[in-house]
Amino acid sequence: MTPAGAVYARAAMRRPRFTPLLEAIPATVPFVAPDALERRGHRIAVRLGANESAFGVSPRAAEAMVRAVPRQSWYADPESFELRDKLAGLLDVTRAHLLVGSGIDELLGLVVRCFVAPGEVAVMARGSYPTFAYHVIGHGGLVEAVPYRDDAVDLETLAEAATRRRARLVYLANPDNPSGSWHTPQAVEALVERLPADCVLVLDEAYLEFAPRAPELSADDPRVLRVRTFSKLYGMAGARIGYAVAPPEVVAAFDKVRLHFGVNGVAQAGAQAALDDREFAAGVIAEVARGRQEYAALGRELALPTLPSATNVVLFDLGGAARARGLLDALLAEGIFIRMPGAPPLDRAVRVTVGTPDERARFAAALRAMRTDGRLEALGER
Ligand SMILES: Cc1ncc(COP(=O)(O)O)c(C=O)c1O
Repeated sequence: MTPAGAVYARAAMRRPRFTPLLEAIPATVPFVAPDALERRGHRIAVRLGANESAFGVSPRAAEAMVRAVPRQSWYADPESFELRDKLAGLLDVTRAHLLVGSGIDELLGLVVRCFVAPGEVAVMARGSYPTFAYHVIGHGGLVEAVPYRDDAVDLETLAEAATRRRARLVYLANPDNPSGSWHTPQAVEALVERLPADCVLVLDEAYLEFAPRAPELSADDPRVLRVRTFSKLYGMAGARIGYAVAPPEVVAAFDKVRLHFGVNGVAQAGAQAALDDREFAAGVIAEVARGRQEYAALGRELALPTLPSATNVVLFDLGGAARARGLLDALLAEGIFIRMPGAPPLDRAVRVTVGTPDERARFAAALRAMRTDGRLEALGER
């Protein structure tokens, strides 16, 4: 080897030096995407596992996005001005109360970065949407996870833990993923009243539109910060766009550190048009409600009870984690992709997105065939 070659070889063997915080975080793959499953050789014909909308994008939104494509050589409007303007009118707030980001996932990271210093605590339900905890850990915070009670987020214990641990943030997905549970506006308002001083409720309303009602919390209340998305009802998960509603001083604080050009123009155009297509959105809400009822009936028929859901996903109770895993694997072998919650007590169930009528029929047919040939009974422990 030449002397220069030896230098390069030595340099290549050196480990990169990361921050102590990063070194302390174990390697993790938070989500195995259906795309990765396909690369591993699974053919996915029915995609009911990733909490997406089965009903696609509104035709008006699709058209607006296509119209925006030629402008992709430009940086998009970093203020998402027109979208915020439209949202302000719809929500009866000002533009200053609104921040647009590339989905709730990005916004949660920003919220954690702005509120949780290293070593400080954030509280959430154990087993609820994991991206919040992912950001807390990534920013050096500590997660206090409180168990579900009766398969729903336990608001009393959340408040109690927030007080005991002097938490900076409490995260509540309402409706919740994966449980599907939902708390009334009064219950959420009572939670806000019980929070300790200097603690903010991060209210994740990704599934808001599928729930019976939304809490009427003031956008000026410094104790609450809401995050919403175009990924679910509006079927734009791949476009990556969502927004936060918060007091103007909080939005201004986010402006100091946010990624200003992170939301692309196609997504901004699509989101605006999606908000205009009320008919499409109403159709999706109605079809999701129908699908939830259909799943509940299927669960009764097959003795796999479903849990009440205020989202576009439904849990089927298999009675044990091994049975749930067995069903997930058996369906994947048939090209039907579903998921199961990652933590007890809900890992006894599988989580199934409300698909199109055709997807629901294929899922139901696969389950019925498994019952007929005895595979459902043989899945494992009860
Ligand atoms: C509770 C909850 N919040 C947020 C998200 C992600 O939202 P976004 O696509 O806007 O990042 C999901 C996706 O499944 C979710 O279940």
